[in-house]
Amino acid sequence: MTIEIKPTGSTLGAEITGADLTQPLTDAAFAQIRAAFYQHEVIFFRGQALSDEDQIRFTARFGELRKLKLASQAHVQHPEIFVVSNIVKEGKPIGSYDAGKLWHTDGAYLAKPHAISALRALEVPAHNGRTLGDTHFASTSAAYAALPQSMKKRLEGLMAAQSFEQHLVKTGGTGIKKEIYATANADREAIHPLVRVHPVNGRKCLYVTEGYTSRIVGLPEDESRELIAELAAQCIKPEFTYVHNWRQHDLVMWDDCSTQHRATFDYPASAPRLMHRTTVVGGATVQ
Ligand code: OGA
Ligand code: MN
Repeated sequence: MTIEIKPTGSTLGAEITGADLTQPLTDAAFAQIRAAFYQHEVIFFRGQALSDEDQIRFTARFGELRKLKLASQAHVQHPEIFVVSNIVKEGKPIGSYDAGKLWHTDGAYLAKPHAISALRALEVPAHNGRTLGDTHFASTSAAYAALPQSMKKRLEGLMAAQSFEQHLVKTGGTGIKKEIYATANADREAIHPLVRVHPVNGRKCLYVTEGYTSRIVGLPEDESRELIAELAAQCIKPEFTYVHNWRQHDLVMWDDCSTQHRATFDYPASAPRLMHRTTVVGGATVQ
């Protein structure tokens, strides 16, 4: 089998074919996939009925996987698997049912935010022959690169707070997130550079999201709020985005430094959507 990298035609995203992820990959094959990932920022594989074990084995090649602390995060058997789903069993949601209501990057409120997320579609809702629940991705490296020089200068050295609480309040404060936040040792907020240098490809990335970014350190409140809104809007301009239309058995991986994402809730509660996510832990952020 030959691995092929097929860019989506959007600023970010590429489909990878010719790699059987149910089998261990050679170092050469993995190196090709890894390079494509850091080049295209979002990659996806289609039509592979992976098991949880396959997903864990493959995504762990990118780095150490995060293990979840709480049993309520519904990993069933594997602490590496975070369940994203609207399915309710015996009156209890089996996973996070409101993930991605707002544009965000995963784990932004952690001192060491996630480096990579990988989401695998087990069940995808559909209507009239089209699958629903698309995920939107935006390239924060492309959004930064397109800023005028004067803005790049203005952003130099700025730090911003990424707040779990803001996210919770803005999304209505429900679900598993609320449970996590209520625990005494929950991670609540982290301060990160507003412009991050990507640890692998060196690209400068805007680290500002509608969901998590709550204030810019040292700026008056009004100015901080306006700048956050302006930069968050810059990131999600259509020219910097790719919309993933899911099919069952897709595995989509995204870079949590150089992209942000949001979900679409355009399907009824009665239509089951089931995703399993693994995340690669990140290091300290740099500017
Ligand atoms: C996530 C997430 C969005 C979606 O899993 O981190 O934000 O469309 N998911 O499921
Ligand atoms: Mn997410």
